[in-house]
Amino acid sequence: KGSDPIEDLIANMSIEEKAGQLSLFGDPTRFHGTVVNPTSEQAATRNRVYADIAAGRITGLFNGIGVAGGREMQKIAVEKSPRGIPLIFAGDIIHGFKTTFPIPLAEAASFDPDLAFRTARAAALEATAVGLHWTFAPMVDVARDQRWGRNAEGSGEDTFLGSQFAAARVLGFQGSSLKDETSLLACPKHFAAYGAVQGGMEYNTADIPETTLRQTHLPPFKAAFDAGALSTMSAFNDIAGVPATGNHYLLTDILRGEWGFRGLVVSDYTSEEELIAHGFAANGADATARAINAGCDVAMQSGLYNDYLPDLVKSGAVSMATVDEAVRRVLRVKQALGLFDNPYRSLDEDREQTDLRKPETLALAREAGRKSIVLLKNEGGLLPLSKSARIALIGPCINDKYDYPGPWSVFPDVATCVTMAEGFQAVMGGRGTLTMARGSDYELPYEGGIDEAVRAAEASDVVVLVIGESAGMSGEAQSRVDIGIPDAQLTLAEAVAATGKPVVVVLRHGRALALTGAAKAAPAILATWFLGSETGHSVADIIFGDYAPQGRLPVSFPQASGQEPYYYNHRATGRPQTTAEKDYKARYREVTNEGLYPFGHGLTYGDIVYGTTMVDAARLSWNGAVEVRAAVSNRGTRPAHEVAQLYIHDRVASLTQPVRALKGFSHIDLAPGETRTVSFTLRRSDLEFMTASLQFAAEPGLFDVWIAPSAVGGISASFELTS
Ligand code: IFM
Repeated sequence: KGSDPIEDLIANMSIEEKAGQLSLFGDPTRFHGTVVNPTSEQAATRNRVYADIAAGRITGLFNGIGVAGGREMQKIAVEKSPRGIPLIFAGDIIHGFKTTFPIPLAEAASFDPDLAFRTARAAALEATAVGLHWTFAPMVDVARDQRWGRNAEGSGEDTFLGSQFAAARVLGFQGSSLKDETSLLACPKHFAAYGAVQGGMEYNTADIPETTLRQTHLPPFKAAFDAGALSTMSAFNDIAGVPATGNHYLLTDILRGEWGFRGLVVSDYTSEEELIAHGFAANGADATARAINAGCDVAMQSGLYNDYLPDLVKSGAVSMATVDEAVRRVLRVKQALGLFDNPYRSLDEDREQTDLRKPETLALAREAGRKSIVLLKNEGGLLPLSKSARIALIGPCINDKYDYPGPWSVFPDVATCVTMAEGFQAVMGGRGTLTMARGSDYELPYEGGIDEAVRAAEASDVVVLVIGESAGMSGEAQSRVDIGIPDAQLTLAEAVAATGKPVVVVLRHGRALALTGAAKAAPAILATWFLGSETGHSVADIIFGDYAPQGRLPVSFPQASGQEPYYYNHRATGRPQTTAEKDYKARYREVTNEGLYPFGHGLTYGDIVYGTTMVDAARLSWNGAVEVRAAVSNRGTRPAHEVAQLYIHDRVASLTQPVRALKGFSHIDLAPGETRTVSFTLRRSDLEFMTASLQFAAEPGLFDVWIAPSAVGGISASFELTS
């Protein structure tokens, strides 16, 4: 029989070499050892890494870059390590590399998965130009509590939308063939239920029923694997008492057994070692055995697999077959990337010079930024502003380039990020006047800041007040108890509003915010998240009306932090507050149950009106289809781009279902005065939910359906699914 090189390797490797193939480390030099004039400490670090590569103790490195150093390391692996197995180079390419794109949450606001495909492709082009093969992205965790900092890295609160973005990003990162030099192996993360951590507190417990796990949190992973992702990262959290990294049911029974996943599972930065702190493993050896036996193939950063696997195999606590299977998965992924044929793939000095920050990549970043902006409010048609206006541009970050790449940007090109100040100047093109003031820092006031801002406002016709979170306030380990705008900036907002000048609030944020005071009362509000390299241009494009806003909220804005977790597709209670009647209803004393801005909300510069939702038949037969349609009109005087959304509600089911669930969306352009009919087709498969027997199934009965501009709008119709 013809020999299989991977099986031949496994047959000849020692247990120490196998453990090495299962051990991934951060590059302590960040530049693959190539530091100019290294200090003795840096040289020692580099030499230690090089020695470990030569000894076969490292399968790959992450968050280091550089072609020259990468080639040097790869040469050691190929020529000096015992089996010559190439290294894999990984990185957190979350929303771009040198060119940063909008954070994933922002991009989800475009409701345009194809845009995410294009930015992921462009990010892959840049990342593979500096020697990377593998990105720890996309993050596909569905997050329903805005206190959690990592909302910024995902696609929001909705499973349907999140699944579309998950698949698009995988296809974008990986391109048409993993062997292609510009293809970046995707790693949908964090498997699983990380977005369900209690209280939105980072690393916390996820205590959810299995039906919720399967209906809400797993589908985006499934979509990502169906799109071809060949790796995943196990989450830090436990689920109902079993940490994800030691969770055999999750990593083996569901992932490989039910879904047939053939890629590798990598832990999240020492999460296998953290089984000890969880109280799930007694010590390092126990943690190693539990993690690998559960199905966690690669240990990130802890070194535990190197330290303990040889003895664990000797003692029988871990079988050689288990180790071999993990090694096989790693080697097959390296093989799929073409590393055995060409270990120096994506290590090309020319591409390192030519493929970063190309004009078309920057143009894409500007387009993506524009499409991610959500116009929350526009009283009196304050926006767009005239380019000839006298504008006061006020806020902590208006000139601070460091705030622009946004959270989780490992190697951004800060110097070339376009600030608000620069973007406004460029788009105004010398017309009007722009008076600038910082006014406050993000979390603290500074002496004279308010006076300076008030003076700028008084000298202008209109104020653009850029406030919200700094880039460092969201992302990993940035959970908040209060998701409001920090007090220092609220004080600034009050002072500016007191001048009586009209105020456009431009929010910066990695999550939905709870708006209060002058920030909430401003006549115009734009949600701009963190838009990356081209922020200033993108915001100015919208503010001055060169483009109409088209973003839609992928997360609900609550009225108060205390409403969190707050999401549109919750289940009904037995006492829903459906009328003005308040007593003994599911509600809080201080606020109504409606959010400030619902999921799916977003205005444009047109005036959009939806007609009643219609269905073409009162009954949907078991294997049939119904067409749902509604007229959408632009009664404004400007062209508009609308995102029509399809929602359903299953009135009676054996497990209660969400009050609304998104099932489709459609982008339409409408000229002034134009009306178009939007239509969707619904089949039984669209009506399925996760039943108590852990199968997706639909049940006969009545369904409500809306074609709507948001999760609370639209005029419903209904139909019956018949068996
Ligand atoms: O990829 C990340 C993960 O999302 C959080 N912990 C660290 C990993 C590697 O940087």
